[in-house]
Amino acid sequence: MEIRGSSQTAAAWAGEAIALGFFESETVLTVPESLTALDERLSGVISEVIVETEFKGKSGELSVTRLGSGAPIKKLILVGLGNAEKWSSAALRSTAAAIARAAKGDKAITTLGLQLPVAETEAITAQMVTEGMYLGFYEDNRFKSEQKDPPALETVEILGIGDQPAAIALGTSLCEGVIYARELVNAPANIINPVTLAASVESLASTYGLELNILEEADCEAAGMGSFLGVAAASDLPPKFIHLVYKPPGTPRKKVAIVGKGLTFDSGGYNIKPSGPSIAMMKMDMGGAAATFGAAKAIAELKPDVEVHFISAATENMISGRGMRPGDILTASNGKTIEVNNTDAEGRLTLADALVYAEKLGVEAIVDIATLTGACVIALGDDICGLWSDNDDLAQAIATASEKAGEKFWQMPLEEKYFEGLKSPIADMKNTGPREGGSITAALFLKEFVEKTPWAHLDIAGPAWSEKDADIYSKGGTGFPVRTLVHWVLS
Ligand code: BES
Ligand code: MN
Ligand code: ZN
Repeated sequence: MEIRGSSQTAAAWAGEAIALGFFESETVLTVPESLTALDERLSGVISEVIVETEFKGKSGELSVTRLGSGAPIKKLILVGLGNAEKWSSAALRSTAAAIARAAKGDKAITTLGLQLPVAETEAITAQMVTEGMYLGFYEDNRFKSEQKDPPALETVEILGIGDQPAAIALGTSLCEGVIYARELVNAPANIINPVTLAASVESLASTYGLELNILEEADCEAAGMGSFLGVAAASDLPPKFIHLVYKPPGTPRKKVAIVGKGLTFDSGGYNIKPSGPSIAMMKMDMGGAAATFGAAKAIAELKPDVEVHFISAATENMISGRGMRPGDILTASNGKTIEVNNTDAEGRLTLADALVYAEKLGVEAIVDIATLTGACVIALGDDICGLWSDNDDLAQAIATASEKAGEKFWQMPLEEKYFEGLKSPIADMKNTGPREGGSITAALFLKEFVEKTPWAHLDIAGPAWSEKDADIYSKGGTGFPVRTLVHWVLS
């Protein structure tokens, strides 16, 4: 699918299908002046469809009409945009995704014209439509034996905004990063494991000429990563500590690190998860790593003047006679000792060594992303990501980036007093505290492994996965928060 901006208007446009946006009207909806010429050219069919289908322009309303074979356009798609006062770039992105879904299964639509109101600027309009179209269009059929015919849609023309190559390129790169992350998350644990995840990142590195450093088990041992290796001990597969680097030509404007939790499967270990959906979902436990490397793909394409380190301590949390037991004491690479009172709180153990490693790189900021706690999902639900930070400027920069991305975050407290719950009688700390405030104690645990670098922690246990096709998401991995991360790096 190719997307382009055009200065043409709907009145003169010719192609298979045209999608027209309408704001909600309290009274009977009428064809706006901007569309009367098109309506005449189509022998009044737009007005007729509005009346016959009682089209109101409500947000999410969509009607597809097949026009007669003599008509200059085959399909007319009317899209409701909701209240004009609430029109925003996020609404435009969602609208484009809805149109993409409607067009995707239609074999008659190879060219599609879009007449939608501008949000903020023409460039932002182009970028939002690009994001919505690609994300709404996406379907992961890699694991079906029967492949569908490829979608017919080839060209999308955004009418009335002029040529917008830069904005469309930005939207396209962001989506490529998101889709790479979605596919990593969707792939089950027998396909994406620590070894194949590392191989996938290796091919990313060679495609874009990025530096890649993979620490093998012995290297991690030499670096004293006892916390990460404790988690990895039960797996038959070797752990991979993945460190990918994007370096711009010349002196970078800033230097940052993104660290993603990379549990390709989380059984819980000896504190095994109950049977049912919770354990069966745990291929998604590398959603943080997926977002990290998804952001890497987009950044490698966009080539900003920023040096970015992408890190994941990848392994799986399994059970075996070699595995860590509840009660074991691990020593992390900063020398701190951890009493593992719950083997299912493994993500923070892997992140501990990854954060220590990231800080040694001398970066200005570290952001970690992790499907870390069920408690965060209880607190904020499926759509909102928990954000913890010890640095207000960094938290603010992420909030600003998230607005551009239309991804939702809510800042949570790093309540020092709750560290009480992590105190251990025998080691420096336990890996889990009480059930209450479980996502906060998880963040406080991580904080022990960052000394002085501004740091933010994003708990994506809720938004990393979507149960249904909705808005810009398709069922499965969402690629959250790739777009926020990229906007943050670009900022
Ligand atoms: N990977 C899970 C968290 C999770 C839950 C991710 C739901 C995605 C959806 C994590 O490793 C875990 O098991 N956390 C425990 C922590 C507890 C033992 C303190 C949890 O949330 O129950
Ligand atoms: Mn777990
Ligand atoms: Zn986990």
